[in-house]
Amino acid sequence: MPTRTSAAHVPDTRASDVLVVGGGIIGLVTAWRAAQRGLGTAVVDPEPGGGAARVAAGMLAAVTELHYGEQTLLGLNLASARRYPEFAAELTEATGQDLGYRRCGTLAVALDADDRAHLRELHTLQQGSGLESEWLSGRECRRLEPMLAPGVRGGLRVDGDHQIDPRRLAKALVTACERAGVVFHRTWAERLRVAGDRATGVVIAGGTELAAGQVVLAGGSLSGQLAGVPDAVLPPVRPVKGQVLRLTVPKRYAPFLNRTVRAVVRGSHVYLVPRENGELVVGATSEELGWDTTVTAGGVYELLRDAHELVPGITELPLTETRAGLRPGSPDNAPLLGPTELDGLLLATGHYRNGVLLTPVTGDAMAHALTTGELPEEARPFTPRRFHATALTEQPA
Ligand code: GLY
Repeated sequence: MPTRTSAAHVPDTRASDVLVVGGGIIGLVTAWRAAQRGLGTAVVDPEPGGGAARVAAGMLAAVTELHYGEQTLLGLNLASARRYPEFAAELTEATGQDLGYRRCGTLAVALDADDRAHLRELHTLQQGSGLESEWLSGRECRRLEPMLAPGVRGGLRVDGDHQIDPRRLAKALVTACERAGVVFHRTWAERLRVAGDRATGVVIAGGTELAAGQVVLAGGSLSGQLAGVPDAVLPPVRPVKGQVLRLTVPKRYAPFLNRTVRAVVRGSHVYLVPRENGELVVGATSEELGWDTTVTAGGVYELLRDAHELVPGITELPLTETRAGLRPGSPDNAPLLGPTELDGLLLATGHYRNGVLLTPVTGDAMAHALTTGELPEEARPFTPRRFHATALTEQPA
């Protein structure tokens, strides 16, 4: 195992048991759960509660976002979806904050024969996976959601796919961490400290060393960028840009939609997520453009065009926000959780399209790993070692 030791810096005497690099929802839930288990925990992030959750729509869509070849991930997604009611109740109890958790279900609809065939395939896959979804005619879809376009050809009703407001979730997790005694270092982590054959902490902006028994790298799409992480354990995550719009439903139009409505239009996913407070989130593009977070006219146009085909009345609504975020994509679209080949370094990253959904199960799995050294059964397929094993054996002769 190659190691690097950084130059001398100013040590900080406040060593923690666990240091989490990254204060997005995944880093925060890890810190909260670790602190609840009695571990002295700190988070390094210039803006805790930021990251991809500032942009995400917050669909908890284990069933409607099922894809071929992702059955293992489905198991983890479902495990997390099952935990959501209790998780949300516990977080609200701990903070007094409403998370916008809404058990409203999802309707995935088809606009033409190709979309219909695609949805039929999804329905077959869902049934084959033992999931609950119901095929509806176009008329039945419009009865549920009267704002749908008259041309809707059919749809899948999934009453188990809910939503949460990720911004509220992130804010509540910051509060829960603070109340559980988590220390926040509101700055950038610049380098992992490695001494001998283990990670021993990080160096933050200004050169201060923060020592820790265990370091969790939970930096979302930036997780592969921390200096000092040995190449063999560097997480293979990449940024996948998503542009998202926020509109407001005036009270006189409410309820505009009763549940999340989504479709694949000309091969692109579009979804409309209605919040109880009148916000309507429309997402999302999926673009492999590196670190670019520009909101483009083309991105906004395509989202509005596709959303308008589904729900024509959307063009009446005020457009209140446009934003782009970066999903942490991994080579198999699944997260990297738990210990790495470098002692003292764990990962909680690579959640790609499922970060909000996977928040509860990630917190539990990481707390288990931090206290026992092992992942719980349901999270074992997501060990980072599935990638590192290859990296270590592919050294040139
Ligand atoms: N899970 C929705 C998205 O990533 O766009």
